[in-house]
Amino acid sequence: MEENKITIQDILALKGKRKITMLTAYDYPLASLIDNAGIDMILVGDSVANVVLGLDSTTKVGMTEMIHHAKAVTRAVKHALVIGDMPYESYQVNPADSVKNARRFIEEAKCDAVKLEWFDRCLEVTEQIIKTEIPVMGHIGLTPQTADKLGGFKVQGKDARTAKRLIEQALALEKLGCFSLVLECVPDKIAEMITKNLKIPTIGIGAGINCDGQVLVTHDLLGLFERFTPKFVKKYINLAPMISQAIEEYKKEVIEGKFPTKNHSFTIKEEELKKLG
Ligand code: KIV
Repeated sequence: MEENKITIQDILALKGKRKITMLTAYDYPLASLIDNAGIDMILVGDSVANVVLGLDSTTKVGMTEMIHHAKAVTRAVKHALVIGDMPYESYQVNPADSVKNARRFIEEAKCDAVKLEWFDRCLEVTEQIIKTEIPVMGHIGLTPQTADKLGGFKVQGKDARTAKRLIEQALALEKLGCFSLVLECVPDKIAEMITKNLKIPTIGIGAGINCDGQVLVTHDLLGLFERFTPKFVKKYINLAPMISQAIEEYKKEVIEGKFPTKNHSFTIKEEELKKLG
């Protein structure tokens, strides 16, 4: 193992000491940049479906794609804890396959942990995976894989009844041994309440400032995903127009014969050229 590799114990120990940072990555170059910046955890998220593969739902990405992306990320990462996001087909379609699929993330893709979203058989599946000593991160609130059952992509836990249900889910996942919990699109006061009630760290996305840590989809943060921008996203840079401008410039220079210049070309000695007649 790398010397400074972040462990599950390190993540647990950060609760109450300093905020935990997490971002998504699906490929080698971005995973390297994120790791070099010292981000604590990298999620190979099934959001790859939306922001990279052009699909309209995360349920449309499967194990083949997730393992492919996870392998690229773990090749790059030296420090961060890498979490493989279990795709819908890997545990919700047939819960009996969940342990085998979780193990693929650890053994084939060399991830350190897996994440799975809340669904009606979540506790049973989480328990089975944890029993095999694979670390699990839970995910409650807005769970995109089952958003249709939650009334769409909406904030969850906005009334006392549904908020109580979220608190119960969080406590149940902690009791089973999850090492951390993503809270997605939850009112800030409810996220704060859950965070205070748990010993394990909460990682918020659209869940306010009082979670133990924060996660964003990196393509949102960088302005690389233009189809929609949720309210909870902060674009720290808007790369899409900058990339478009660079591509336009390249196109213009190729058409006008301005690229490549001598500096981008290779030479052959005159005497060798002469030999060709
Ligand atoms: O797939 C993903 O990117 C996620 C984060 C939004 C937590 O699950």
